[in-house]
Order: sequence, then C-alpha cells, then structure tokens
Amino acid sequence: MKIRSVLTMLGVAAAFVIVVGPTAPAVASATPAPGPISAPVMGWNSWNKFGCNIDENLIKATADAIVSTGLRESGYTYVNIDDCWMASTRDAQGRLQPHPTRFPGGIKALADYVHARGLKLGIYSSAGNNTCQGLPASLDHEVVDAQTWASWGIDLLKYDNCGNPGRPALERYKAMGDALKATGRHIVYSICNWGREDPWVFGPNVGGSLWRTTGDISASWASVVSLLDQQVGLEAFARKGYYNDPDMLEVGNGSLTATENAAHFSLWSVLAAPLILGNDLRSVPAATLSVLRNADVIAVNQDWGGSQGRKIADAGDAEVWAKPMSDGSVAVVLLNRGAATATVSTSAAALGLGGSSAYGLRDLWTGATSTSTGAISASVPSHGAAMYRVSRSGALAAPPAAGTHQVSDLPWLASSNGYGPAERDESNNTTAAGDGVPLKIGTTSFAKGIGAHADSAVHVYLGRACRTFTTQVGVDAESGTAGSVRFQVYGDGRLLAYSDVKTGGQAPTRITVGTAGYTTLELRVTDGRTNGITSDHADWGSPTLTCGAAGTGSSVSDRTWASAVSYFGPAERDRSNGERPAEDGSVITVNGVHYPKGIGTHAASDVAVALDGACTRFTAVAGIDAETANRGTVVFSVVADGVTLYTSPTVTSTTPVAVDVDVTGRTTLHLVTANTADGTTYDHADWADARLLC
Ligand code: GLA
Repeated sequence: MKIRSVLTMLGVAAAFVIVVGPTAPAVASATPAPGPISAPVMGWNSWNKFGCNIDENLIKATADAIVSTGLRESGYTYVNIDDCWMASTRDAQGRLQPHPTRFPGGIKALADYVHARGLKLGIYSSAGNNTCQGLPASLDHEVVDAQTWASWGIDLLKYDNCGNPGRPALERYKAMGDALKATGRHIVYSICNWGREDPWVFGPNVGGSLWRTTGDISASWASVVSLLDQQVGLEAFARKGYYNDPDMLEVGNGSLTATENAAHFSLWSVLAAPLILGNDLRSVPAATLSVLRNADVIAVNQDWGGSQGRKIADAGDAEVWAKPMSDGSVAVVLLNRGAATATVSTSAAALGLGGSSAYGLRDLWTGATSTSTGAISASVPSHGAAMYRVSRSGALAAPPAAGTHQVSDLPWLASSNGYGPAERDESNNTTAAGDGVPLKIGTTSFAKGIGAHADSAVHVYLGRACRTFTTQVGVDAESGTAGSVRFQVYGDGRLLAYSDVKTGGQAPTRITVGTAGYTTLELRVTDGRTNGITSDHADWGSPTLTCGAAGTGSSVSDRTWASAVSYFGPAERDRSNGERPAEDGSVITVNGVHYPKGIGTHAASDVAVALDGACTRFTAVAGIDAETANRGTVVFSVVADGVTLYTSPTVTSTTPVAVDVDVTGRTTLHLVTANTADGTTYDHADWADARLLC
C-alpha cells in the first residue's frame, strides 16, 4: 500500500510510471496470456469414442481425416488427446512422459505432424494427484508440466478434476493458469471440474477460456437433455472469449439417431458451446458428416451476438432456445423432447425481435426460406429440433412517446410467466389473472411495477428511442423468506445486466442500464438455482424507461480510446480492474448487479474517447467494484473539451450513481475518477455499462 500512496501524490502521470517503470514487476503484456479466445473451440477429442484405447497412429489418422473430410475447412482445428497419453511414472527429472508403447514417437513429433496439417494439438491432465484413469497428474507439478507441454508445442490443455486431495478448486486451477501463462505460449485453458465450486465464476479469473458446467456426457439422448437442463441459469456467465462447456459432442456415437444427432448439434450451437467432436473420424458416415459440417449452424455457434443462447420457453416436452446474432437476427431452436411428433411454436416478439410488420425465416437444416408476421412454428419429430434464423424484414412500429414511462403502463410485445400471468402493478399471488396484492420487496412498497414468477419474461418495444431503464428488484414479501431468483435485463436479446440471486426477505436491489439504440427490452426472471422455482415470486419495482432520444447506441468499451490512464494496471474493457496485469479483472459488479459491458479502472483514472460532435448522451452506472470487498471511495466526473459536465458525490461500494449526461456537440469525452481523502486504497472504480447515444 505504501508505494501506491506515494504515487498517488504524484498524480496520474505516476500511475503511468508504475506500469512501465523499473519498480513494476515483469508485466505480462508481451506474453500472450491464456484467456479470451476468438470463438468457441472447434475440434475433436479422443475420450468419448476411444477412452484409453488411444495411440499416436489414431491421433495422426484423425488429423488426416479432419483434413480429408473437409472438417478443417468447417473450422474444426483442435485435435485433443484426452486421458491415458502419459506413462505411469514421471521421468528422472520429474517430467510427465508419453506412454512408451502407445506414443513411442513422443508428443512433440505428434504436435509437429498435426501442425503441419494446419491443426492444433490439445492435451490432458488433472488438477489432482492422478488422472481419472489413475495416471500421474499435475497437482503441485504445474510449472514443470506447463513448461513440458509448451516445449512440445501444445495448444490447449483440458484440466480435469480427479485425484484432488481435498484442496479448493480456485487454488488448484489458478496454479495451472499461472503456470500456462508463464510459459509464454498461448495454450487455451479448458477447465474440467464438472461444474463444481462455480467454475463459471472462478474460471475466467484463473485464465480459463472454457469451463465444464456438468459431469460427463454419454452417447444417449437422456444424457444430452440432462446436460441441456443443467445449462439453464448459466447463460449470464458466458462472455465473448469465455464459454460455458456443456461437454463434448456425441454426434455419431452410441444410440443417438440421425434426428437426435441434429438436435444435439443445434442445441450445442445455440449454447455457444465448444464444438468438440467425439466420434471416429476415420470412418464417418456421410449423414453424420453433413450434420457436423452444416455451415449455417456452425455460424450460429461461432458468432458472438452479445450473449450465449438460452431457454426462452418451456412447455414440458416443447422447448424454445434462442441466441442473438451480431447482425441483429436471432437463431432459434424448437425442441421436441416428447415421444411423438409435435408442433413447437414461439413468436418473433418472444425472441426479442418484436415491433416489425414482417419477418424472414431461414430453416438452417433445409435451407428453405419463408416469411411470417410473427408466428414461428414447426412440426418437429420426437427428439428432434427445427432451427431457424429469424430477421426483421418489415416496417417498424412507432416508438414510445418522449418522456418517462412505467413499463406497467406500456403495451407488452409478449409476456410469459411461471405461475399464472405476469401482473401489472400488483404481485403474482396465485395463478388467476389480477389476483395480486400491492407490490412489496422487503419493507419497500411499490405502487407501480410487475409481479412475476420465475421463469418469466416481459418484452417491451423501445423503437430505439429510449436511453435508460431503471428498476428495483427482489422477491415479493408474499413469499416470506422463501424464493430465490435472478433478474436479467436484455436489450435486443443481449444481456445488459443481471442481479445477484435474490432471496425472500431481502431489501430491493436497483438495476439501471443504458438502452440507447435498442429496439426491444426484455425483463426476465430465472430460478436462482438453489431450490427450484418454489415461491419464486419476483417483483420489478417501478420499472421506468426514459424515452425521447433517437439514435444509435454503442458501448464505450467497444470504441477506440484516444487515451487511457489508470492507477493500478490498465483501464479494462468489459471487466473490472482486477490486479495490475492487463485483462485480469472479472465481470463488472456494482452493489449486487453484474454488467457484461463497461470500463473497469482504478482511481485516479482518465479514459478519453473522441465524439467528434456526433453524440448526444452518455450514460453509465458509476460504482465501486465488488472485488474490493466493499471498500474504496471515489469521485467520478465527466469532462468534455475542458468543461466538467458532471461530478458525482463520493461513491462507495453501496452507493453507486446513475450517470446520464448531455454531451451534444462535444469533441472529446473524458471519464475521470479521483481519489478521496482516504487515498487510493481499493479504489476499483467502474463505469458500468458505459454507453453513448450518437
Ligand atoms: C473425466 C472427464 C472426462 C474425461 C475422463 C478421462 O471423467 O470429465 O471428460 O476426460 O475424465 O478419464
């Protein structure tokens, strides 16, 4: 702390010195750290089909087959050797060594072989004393093993969870993440601890780019849908470059039928899951290959449209899963889990695409195109899935009038609710419409709002004319201390903010987001994953839109920055400050609300963006990130062209402020944070959801 206080007195210039100067540790900036990857990993892994029955000839033949079948051109580039590649003992220097008879040529030669074909080689170990097959593993050998793999030219590590003597996952997986980073080689870090201890939370913090969310898949329909069910509620944790991993594909294996193969592949694609093939590629039937090479479906998987896919409707055997695409369209999977052919239906509005007089649909399995005024429906065979890409193709509706609006006073494009209808200005109560009581979260009552029950969604039309949305959320008092829910706000199907899990009896949490440029807003409540949906009566207290500002919206974190200084490590895009290294923060979290977009800094900081007179409004939530364990105090200000447009009161971890500033005509915007009398300690200052209307 001492060095930080001294440097504070020297001001922002000193903050720059700490990054580049002689007192700084060897900063990892020259080292490509494990971390964000460009898209979900695509490739093949030996485990699902071959288990321990592997050798170097299989790996080479598989690499050849990936090329000859055209799978490489489809994007499958990783060839991953799973368990059982290693000898039963380490060598005299304590290094892992390949199994002497199954990999006699060594892994380096195999890596060369694979690389020569334009592919990458992945390898496997476990964060324990032994692998799941009882072979030597990497706990307490992280540094030597990472260096060994780097020296062989390894491109990906799948790191399993067997042989753990009872040590916390964070400690074990961080040790390997650090060791991989220290090699200087970009080795994609695939965390495989079966969804235990919340890998979706710690995974990205330890260098992981993907993390298993469940136990193992097997080659049966029951396994596929069981794993699918376990993805619900995890969609908030995937971000561009960091993905939930519902385990490898079983397409072409076991008892899966052709219909089930296509459904499995469709679902993993909308989940933005890694597409790791697990079948025998040396002899793959044409029908299976046509599933695996469907370019339209792969494009859904690889495109980051702002959020991974999620379940948006569940009517027993009929489910609807949807994923926003970066071009504004939505990919939708209509799933039939039942035993007989059934019609599965949804609507463009339920997909977050409402407000248009017409829609274009492309069937991603047949290539057929059609148009609709909003209904989306298909006859789907048992254990099958229809998959469409849906786009607006008609005239847009008129936006809400200028001014502030309660969402309960606006028309809803669509709504769904777990227990009777979502109610306007009253609690959910029971299943009858209009049977609620006044909304109350903890001891706070709300005259206006929405009384919902998980799972629930309310869709409203913004027509790109509203710049902010704010609400208070929590479990309604009618649930007593029962109930556990998570609140999520989506703009055009993209996750803008989500709350911590809220339980019965807690005080409300405020959520504020910028909505500039969005056409639709979705207010969703999902189960908190602790007790099912029992008593999940969820209130949106006084949900309010401020409208009257047409234009294009953009995140400041997606723009070029004219300059950026921050006291402790660089200003971060779409993550908190973390510690000193670049890109080491986590999801921006302010007073119980998580924001996928925004800027994480450490006061004193100054991030400048050119506006060139083109923008009219800047919005953000200014707060102290939760990673400081509720410490730190900061003053935020917005300065443009030498004029201070806004200065916040002293912000603490429990008193974030909503910023909404007129920037019309301004040339350069500076987002400035300053320390207060208590010095720099823990001043992790977030511009959460920093957004411009231009
Ligand atoms: C665990 C993993 C599997 C596979 C096996 C290998 O079960 O979850 O994916 O790697 O170990 O032993």
